[in-house]
Amino acid sequence: MCQRLTDKSAFVTGAGQGIGRGIAEQLAANGASVTIAEINEESGRLTADELCHAGYDAQFAQVDIRSEDDIVAGIAVHMKRFRKLDILVNNAGANQHYDASQMSVDEWEKSMSLNLRGAWLCCKHALPIMEAQQGGVIVNIASVHATMTSDNFFPYNVAKSGLLGLTRSLALDWGQHNIRAVAVSPGWVRTQPVLDHFAGAVEPEAEEERVKNLHPLKRIGEPENIGALVAFLASDEASYITGTEIVIDGGLSARHAD
Ligand SMILES: NC(=O)c1ccc[n+]([C@@H]2O[C@H](COP(=O)([O-])OP(=O)(O)OC[C@H]3O[C@@H](n4cnc5c(N)ncnc54)[C@H](O)[C@@H]3O)[C@@H](O)[C@H]2O)c1
Repeated sequence: MCQRLTDKSAFVTGAGQGIGRGIAEQLAANGASVTIAEINEESGRLTADELCHAGYDAQFAQVDIRSEDDIVAGIAVHMKRFRKLDILVNNAGANQHYDASQMSVDEWEKSMSLNLRGAWLCCKHALPIMEAQQGGVIVNIASVHATMTSDNFFPYNVAKSGLLGLTRSLALDWGQHNIRAVAVSPGWVRTQPVLDHFAGAVEPEAEEERVKNLHPLKRIGEPENIGALVAFLASDEASYITGTEIVIDGGLSARHAD
Protein backbone atom coordinates (compact mmCIF):
# COMPACT_ATOMS: atom_id res chain seq x y z
CA MET A 1 0.00 0.00 0.00
CA CYS A 2 1.25 3.49 -0.95
CA GLN A 3 2.07 5.43 2.23
CA ARG A 4 0.87 8.77 0.90
CA LEU A 5 -0.35 9.93 4.34
CA THR A 6 2.67 9.13 6.51
CA ASP A 7 2.91 11.55 9.49
CA LYS A 8 -0.65 12.83 8.90
CA SER A 9 -3.46 12.52 11.40
CA ALA A 10 -7.18 12.36 10.64
CA PHE A 11 -10.45 12.91 12.50
CA VAL A 12 -13.29 10.99 10.83
CA THR A 13 -16.88 11.39 12.01
CA GLY A 14 -19.28 8.45 11.89
CA ALA A 15 -16.38 6.06 11.35
CA GLY A 16 -17.78 3.12 13.32
CA GLN A 17 -19.36 1.54 10.25
CA GLY A 18 -20.17 2.00 6.59
CA ILE A 19 -18.49 4.67 4.48
CA GLY A 20 -16.85 6.31 7.51
CA ARG A 21 -15.21 3.05 8.47
CA GLY A 22 -14.09 2.50 4.87
CA ILE A 23 -12.53 5.97 4.91
CA ALA A 24 -10.80 5.38 8.27
CA GLU A 25 -9.39 2.07 7.00
CA GLN A 26 -8.03 3.60 3.80
CA LEU A 27 -6.54 6.62 5.59
CA ALA A 28 -4.85 4.28 8.09
CA ALA A 29 -3.61 1.95 5.35
CA ASN A 30 -2.03 5.00 3.70
CA GLY A 31 -0.12 5.80 6.87
CA ALA A 32 -2.38 8.26 8.73
CA SER A 33 -3.17 8.11 12.43
CA VAL A 34 -6.94 8.17 12.85
CA THR A 35 -9.48 9.22 15.47
CA ILE A 36 -12.75 7.34 15.05
CA ALA A 37 -15.21 10.08 16.08
CA GLU A 38 -18.42 8.14 16.51
CA ILE A 39 -21.65 8.42 18.51
CA ASN A 40 -21.93 4.62 18.88
CA GLU A 41 -19.42 3.52 21.49
CA GLU A 42 -19.53 -0.17 20.59
CA SER A 43 -18.88 0.20 16.85
CA GLY A 44 -16.45 3.09 17.37
CA ARG A 45 -14.31 1.15 19.86
CA LEU A 46 -14.43 -1.99 17.73
CA THR A 47 -13.26 -0.11 14.63
CA ALA A 48 -10.41 1.57 16.51
CA ASP A 49 -9.40 -1.75 18.13
CA GLU A 50 -9.43 -3.59 14.80
CA LEU A 51 -7.32 -0.91 13.15
CA CYS A 52 -4.81 -1.11 16.02
CA HIS A 53 -4.73 -4.91 15.75
CA ALA A 54 -3.98 -4.52 12.04
CA GLY A 55 -0.91 -2.48 13.04
CA TYR A 56 -2.33 1.00 12.48
CA ASP A 57 -2.49 3.95 14.86
CA ALA A 58 -6.12 4.63 15.80
CA GLN A 59 -8.24 5.67 18.75
CA PHE A 60 -11.93 6.08 19.52
CA ALA A 61 -13.54 9.34 20.69
CA GLN A 62 -17.24 9.33 21.48
CA VAL A 63 -18.69 12.29 19.58
CA ASP A 64 -22.25 13.24 18.75
CA ILE A 65 -21.76 15.80 15.97
CA ARG A 66 -25.06 17.45 16.95
CA SER A 67 -23.30 18.65 20.12
CA GLU A 68 -20.66 21.40 19.95
CA ASP A 69 -19.36 20.34 23.39
CA ASP A 70 -18.83 16.79 22.11
CA ILE A 71 -16.95 18.08 19.07
CA VAL A 72 -14.69 20.29 21.19
CA ALA A 73 -13.99 17.37 23.53
CA GLY A 74 -13.42 14.94 20.65
CA ILE A 75 -10.93 17.22 18.91
CA ALA A 76 -9.17 17.70 22.27
CA VAL A 77 -8.86 13.90 22.58
CA HIS A 78 -7.44 13.83 19.05
CA MET A 79 -4.92 16.63 19.74
CA LYS A 80 -3.80 15.09 23.04
CA ARG A 81 -2.75 11.90 21.29
CA PHE A 82 -1.70 13.05 17.82
CA ARG A 83 -0.63 16.70 18.45
CA LYS A 84 -1.86 17.89 15.02
CA LEU A 85 -4.92 17.67 12.84
CA ASP A 86 -4.19 17.33 9.14
CA ILE A 87 -7.39 15.77 7.81
CA LEU A 88 -11.01 16.30 8.89
CA VAL A 89 -13.61 14.06 7.25
CA ASN A 90 -17.20 15.10 7.87
CA ASN A 91 -18.93 11.81 7.14
CA ALA A 92 -21.61 11.23 9.82
CA GLY A 93 -25.10 11.70 8.48
CA ALA A 94 -28.35 9.90 7.78
CA ASN A 95 -31.05 9.99 5.19
CA GLN A 96 -34.38 11.31 6.40
CA HIS A 97 -37.66 11.65 4.52
CA TYR A 98 -40.25 14.28 5.39
CA ASP A 99 -43.22 15.95 3.74
CA ALA A 100 -42.24 19.62 3.42
CA SER A 101 -45.76 20.67 4.40
CA GLN A 102 -45.82 18.51 7.54
CA MET A 103 -42.28 18.63 8.93
CA SER A 104 -42.03 20.45 12.27
CA VAL A 105 -39.39 23.06 13.04
CA ASP A 106 -37.97 20.68 15.64
CA GLU A 107 -37.63 17.89 13.05
CA TRP A 108 -35.99 20.34 10.63
CA GLU A 109 -33.50 21.46 13.31
CA LYS A 110 -32.66 17.84 14.18
CA SER A 111 -32.13 16.88 10.57
CA MET A 112 -29.96 19.90 9.81
CA SER A 113 -27.96 19.50 13.02
CA LEU A 114 -26.95 16.01 11.87
CA ASN A 115 -26.57 16.50 8.14
CA LEU A 116 -25.21 20.06 7.86
CA ARG A 117 -24.59 21.93 11.12
CA GLY A 118 -22.40 19.15 12.56
CA ALA A 119 -20.00 19.39 9.62
CA TRP A 120 -19.72 23.16 10.04
CA LEU A 121 -19.14 22.78 13.80
CA CYS A 122 -16.33 20.29 13.21
CA CYS A 123 -14.80 22.79 10.75
CA LYS A 124 -15.27 25.62 13.26
CA HIS A 125 -13.04 23.82 15.76
CA ALA A 126 -10.59 22.27 13.30
CA LEU A 127 -9.85 25.44 11.31
CA PRO A 128 -7.92 27.33 14.03
CA ILE A 129 -5.69 24.26 14.49
CA MET A 130 -5.15 23.94 10.74
CA GLU A 131 -4.48 27.68 10.46
CA ALA A 132 -1.82 27.46 13.17
CA GLN A 133 -0.25 24.53 11.28
CA GLN A 134 -0.62 26.42 7.96
CA GLY A 135 -2.15 23.38 6.37
CA GLY A 136 -5.01 20.91 6.39
CA VAL A 137 -7.63 19.16 4.31
CA ILE A 138 -11.37 19.02 4.97
CA VAL A 139 -13.46 16.44 3.12
CA ASN A 140 -17.22 16.74 3.35
CA ILE A 141 -19.18 13.62 2.45
CA ALA A 142 -22.17 14.93 0.52
CA SER A 143 -24.19 12.79 -1.90
CA VAL A 144 -25.38 12.67 -5.49
CA HIS A 145 -28.54 14.13 -3.89
CA ALA A 146 -26.62 17.40 -3.44
CA THR A 147 -27.12 18.27 -7.12
CA MET A 148 -30.03 16.10 -8.30
CA THR A 149 -32.50 14.23 -6.17
CA SER A 150 -35.34 11.71 -6.11
CA ASP A 151 -38.91 11.99 -4.88
CA ASN A 152 -39.28 12.15 -1.08
CA PHE A 153 -35.67 12.98 -0.21
CA PHE A 154 -36.52 16.22 1.61
CA PRO A 155 -34.67 17.66 3.51
CA TYR A 156 -31.66 15.32 3.24
CA ASN A 157 -30.94 16.71 -0.22
CA VAL A 158 -31.17 20.28 1.13
CA ALA A 159 -28.53 19.55 3.76
CA LYS A 160 -26.27 17.80 1.24
CA SER A 161 -26.53 20.80 -1.12
CA GLY A 162 -25.56 22.94 1.85
CA LEU A 163 -22.37 20.88 2.26
CA LEU A 164 -21.34 21.92 -1.25
CA GLY A 165 -21.77 25.57 -0.27
CA LEU A 166 -19.81 24.98 2.92
CA THR A 167 -17.03 23.38 0.89
CA ARG A 168 -16.80 26.35 -1.48
CA SER A 169 -16.72 28.92 1.34
CA LEU A 170 -14.05 26.98 3.23
CA ALA A 171 -11.90 26.78 0.11
CA LEU A 172 -12.19 30.50 -0.60
CA ASP A 173 -11.78 31.79 2.94
CA TRP A 174 -9.05 29.41 4.13
CA GLY A 175 -7.01 28.63 1.01
CA GLN A 176 -4.54 31.37 1.97
CA HIS A 177 -3.62 29.19 4.96
CA ASN A 178 -2.98 26.15 2.75
CA ILE A 179 -6.26 24.60 3.87
CA ARG A 180 -8.16 22.73 1.17
CA ALA A 181 -11.83 21.70 1.20
CA VAL A 182 -13.40 19.12 -1.09
CA ALA A 183 -16.86 17.58 -1.20
CA VAL A 184 -17.20 13.91 -2.11
CA SER A 185 -20.61 12.87 -3.44
CA PRO A 186 -21.22 9.11 -3.46
CA GLY A 187 -24.08 7.38 -5.19
CA TRP A 188 -25.32 4.00 -3.92
CA VAL A 189 -22.80 2.42 -1.51
CA ARG A 190 -23.18 -0.97 0.18
CA THR A 191 -23.75 0.14 3.79
CA GLN A 192 -26.39 -0.74 6.38
CA PRO A 193 -28.99 1.84 5.25
CA VAL A 194 -28.72 0.55 1.68
CA LEU A 195 -28.91 -3.09 2.81
CA ASP A 196 -31.99 -2.12 4.87
CA HIS A 197 -33.49 -0.56 1.76
CA PHE A 198 -32.99 -3.78 -0.21
CA ALA A 199 -34.30 -5.93 2.66
CA GLY A 200 -37.39 -3.75 2.99
CA ALA A 201 -38.37 -4.07 -0.67
CA VAL A 202 -41.24 -6.36 -1.66
CA GLU A 203 -38.75 -8.36 -3.73
CA PRO A 204 -35.31 -7.65 -2.23
CA GLU A 205 -33.22 -9.44 -4.88
CA ALA A 206 -35.14 -7.82 -7.72
CA GLU A 207 -34.67 -4.41 -6.11
CA GLU A 208 -30.92 -4.96 -5.77
CA GLU A 209 -30.75 -6.04 -9.42
CA ARG A 210 -32.75 -2.97 -10.46
CA VAL A 211 -30.39 -0.67 -8.58
CA LYS A 212 -27.25 -2.37 -9.94
CA ASN A 213 -28.61 -1.98 -13.46
CA LEU A 214 -28.99 1.77 -13.01
CA HIS A 215 -25.19 1.88 -13.05
CA PRO A 216 -23.03 1.63 -16.20
CA LEU A 217 -20.67 -0.51 -14.09
CA LYS A 218 -23.61 -2.77 -13.07
CA ARG A 219 -22.69 -2.69 -9.40
CA ILE A 220 -23.05 -0.41 -6.41
CA GLY A 221 -20.09 1.11 -4.63
CA GLU A 222 -18.21 -0.32 -1.65
CA PRO A 223 -17.04 1.75 1.34
CA GLU A 224 -13.41 1.20 0.37
CA ASN A 225 -14.06 2.85 -3.02
CA ILE A 226 -15.01 6.05 -1.18
CA GLY A 227 -12.13 5.57 1.27
CA ALA A 228 -9.59 5.29 -1.54
CA LEU A 229 -10.82 8.57 -3.07
CA VAL A 230 -10.69 10.36 0.29
CA ALA A 231 -7.15 9.06 0.92
CA PHE A 232 -6.07 10.50 -2.43
CA LEU A 233 -7.84 13.84 -1.83
CA ALA A 234 -6.24 14.13 1.61
CA SER A 235 -2.77 13.54 0.20
CA ASP A 236 -0.27 15.98 -1.29
CA GLU A 237 -0.92 14.39 -4.70
CA ALA A 238 -4.24 16.31 -4.62
CA SER A 239 -2.61 19.57 -3.49
CA TYR A 240 -4.28 21.61 -6.26
CA ILE A 241 -7.81 20.28 -5.68
CA THR A 242 -10.02 22.52 -3.56
CA GLY A 243 -13.46 24.12 -3.55
CA THR A 244 -15.04 21.47 -5.71
CA GLU A 245 -17.18 18.34 -5.64
CA ILE A 246 -16.00 14.92 -6.77
CA VAL A 247 -18.88 12.60 -7.69
CA ILE A 248 -18.20 8.87 -7.16
CA ASP A 249 -21.23 6.94 -8.29
CA GLY A 250 -20.20 4.24 -10.78
CA GLY A 251 -21.53 6.42 -13.59
CA LEU A 252 -25.07 6.57 -12.16
CA SER A 253 -25.52 10.30 -12.79
CA ALA A 254 -24.14 10.18 -16.34
CA ARG A 255 -27.42 8.67 -17.57
CA HIS A 256 -30.29 10.89 -18.60
CA ALA A 257 -33.56 9.54 -17.16
CA ASP A 258 -35.51 8.62 -20.29
N1 LIG B 1 -24.57 4.61 1.68
C1 LIG B 1 -24.83 5.38 0.64
O1 LIG B 1 -25.31 4.89 -0.39
C2 LIG B 1 -24.53 6.87 0.69
C3 LIG B 1 -24.64 7.59 -0.50
C4 LIG B 1 -24.35 8.95 -0.49
C5 LIG B 1 -23.96 9.57 0.68
N2 LIG B 1 -23.88 8.86 1.83
C6 LIG B 1 -23.46 9.56 3.03
O2 LIG B 1 -22.35 8.90 3.59
C7 LIG B 1 -22.33 9.09 5.01
C8 LIG B 1 -22.24 7.72 5.68
O3 LIG B 1 -23.35 6.95 5.28
P1 LIG B 1 -23.40 5.37 5.52
O4 LIG B 1 -24.23 4.81 4.44
O5 LIG B 1 -22.04 4.84 5.78
O6 LIG B 1 -24.28 5.33 6.86
P2 LIG B 1 -24.22 4.34 8.14
O7 LIG B 1 -25.54 4.53 8.81
O8 LIG B 1 -23.79 2.97 7.74
O9 LIG B 1 -23.07 4.98 9.03
C9 LIG B 1 -23.22 6.23 9.64
C10 LIG B 1 -22.33 6.28 10.87
O10 LIG B 1 -22.48 7.58 11.47
C11 LIG B 1 -22.71 7.42 12.86
N3 LIG B 1 -23.49 8.55 13.37
C12 LIG B 1 -24.83 8.75 13.23
N4 LIG B 1 -25.19 9.87 13.86
C13 LIG B 1 -24.07 10.40 14.40
C14 LIG B 1 -23.80 11.55 15.17
N5 LIG B 1 -24.80 12.38 15.53
N6 LIG B 1 -22.54 11.81 15.57
C15 LIG B 1 -21.53 10.95 15.21
N7 LIG B 1 -21.72 9.83 14.50
C16 LIG B 1 -22.98 9.56 14.10
C17 LIG B 1 -23.46 6.10 12.98
O11 LIG B 1 -23.41 5.56 14.29
C18 LIG B 1 -22.75 5.25 11.94
O12 LIG B 1 -21.59 4.64 12.46
C19 LIG B 1 -23.61 9.86 5.33
O13 LIG B 1 -23.33 11.24 5.43
C20 LIG B 1 -24.49 9.60 4.13
O14 LIG B 1 -25.44 10.62 3.92
C21 LIG B 1 -24.16 7.52 1.87
